[in-house]
Amino acid sequence: MRNSMGSFALLCTIGTPATLNRKGVTTSAARRAKQASPFAPFQRDVPIAPVLSPVRTERGVDVYDVDIREGMAEILPGFQTPIYGYEGIYPGPTIRARKGRAAIVRQRNGLSFDSNVHLHGGYVPAAHDGHPMDVIAPGATFDYSYPNEQDAAFLWYHDHAHGRTARTLYYGLLGAYILEDDREAALELPRDEYDVPLVLADHAFNKDGSFRYEENLDLGFRGDTILVNGAVAPRMRVERRIYRLRFLNASNARSYDLRLGNGRTMVQIASDGGLLERPLERTGFPLHPAERIEVLVDFRKFRPGSEVVLHNLLGDPATTRSVMRFDVVRGGGSEDARIPAGRMRTLERLPDPIASHRWDLTLQTGGDIQWKIANRGFDPTRIDVRPQLGSTELWQWHNPSERVHPMHLHGMLFRIVERSTGVVHPGERGWKDTIGVQPKETVTVQPWFTPYKGKYVFHCHALEHGDKAMMLQLEVV
Ligand code: C2O
Ligand code: CU
Repeated sequence: MRNSMGSFALLCTIGTPATLNRKGVTTSAARRAKQASPFAPFQRDVPIAPVLSPVRTERGVDVYDVDIREGMAEILPGFQTPIYGYEGIYPGPTIRARKGRAAIVRQRNGLSFDSNVHLHGGYVPAAHDGHPMDVIAPGATFDYSYPNEQDAAFLWYHDHAHGRTARTLYYGLLGAYILEDDREAALELPRDEYDVPLVLADHAFNKDGSFRYEENLDLGFRGDTILVNGAVAPRMRVERRIYRLRFLNASNARSYDLRLGNGRTMVQIASDGGLLERPLERTGFPLHPAERIEVLVDFRKFRPGSEVVLHNLLGDPATTRSVMRFDVVRGGGSEDARIPAGRMRTLERLPDPIASHRWDLTLQTGGDIQWKIANRGFDPTRIDVRPQLGSTELWQWHNPSERVHPMHLHGMLFRIVERSTGVVHPGERGWKDTIGVQPKETVTVQPWFTPYKGKYVFHCHALEHGDKAMMLQLEVV
């Protein structure tokens, strides 16, 4: 077998719960299947996480119950991999919410250590944002209240207990949160099974099928195996129809550059914070940790039997170059979805910025290596910046380092104003909550400090960087 299955690595013990030392289980099916490598791409159909149903609706608010707990997942055919999961599965169940209809997600922490839940990209009151210091003790529950008042967007939820996210997300604590609204519905985009969240993450495995994790504070964790929705480089059978593919990069620290085979085009319709102004034809796109891009792919252009591979041009090692494959099958019937031809929305005009800040992203190398923002590391007792509610500012991410830093702001969205390395691509001119700042680059963004007052964090979403402790705190006043 190739990939990393030969090297047993000790799980680093700092902040790692003892339960993670549980072994994976090799089933007899795995022994039977010996010849076919569990790492071979395109062997399995892409799994689709179940959509969570509310347990009840109280005065127009949908109430969901989620258990945060350990589970086993069949990620490599014939092996059982211990995970942490919302409802014990990886990725966790998808929540589909509707703008104007609030939701309460009751999270019960069934783990033996603190946990919490951040709704990434959500407009959420500070007390419900999953601030790294607001945690749910083992055995306790917390009701996260989500107003769902922002525009349709592909959000996601994940653990955010301080100092642990590199491990807890790696071991499975994340899921998709899809917010829909009327404007988007009027566009007649593909729905139901033609609207597919695709969660990308790189992993490595021990011989027994358990996840292998090795801490690397500089690079961040890099695995040698790409999982999509928890399966190794899977295949997806597609009818000759239009599909809406929602890509989320849930990797610890890996960036992708995704292309369809033969330079086929996709139509980008949305980024982190929802719809772009206009659909945009692209042959590929970069995707940094925590970013989302949504595309429409028209498989009517392909003959039945076509196999269309989605490649990662940044794939290193080579085993990370194939992400998944679309297998075009016969049939599909008549298409009622469409690819929008013109304007999909008008982006809000932002108020003029009233302040500016420059945040240097640097590596401190003396003693323990540590990533810093403006020479500071995270201190929950300190507020680093106090923007005014409803205002905008210009924030400059200045990156003299050799690493990409996907910088993320909680609780609000921003637009990209300028990139020192070139023009801002039209695909990133919509609302964003995370931006990959390239080595030696300065990116200027304009956050809109709305809609809530309160304490939020902003940080690097290379999880090892954020944990140690490339994160500052802002208070909207
Ligand atoms: Cu997706 Cu503070 O995180
Ligand atoms: Cu970083």
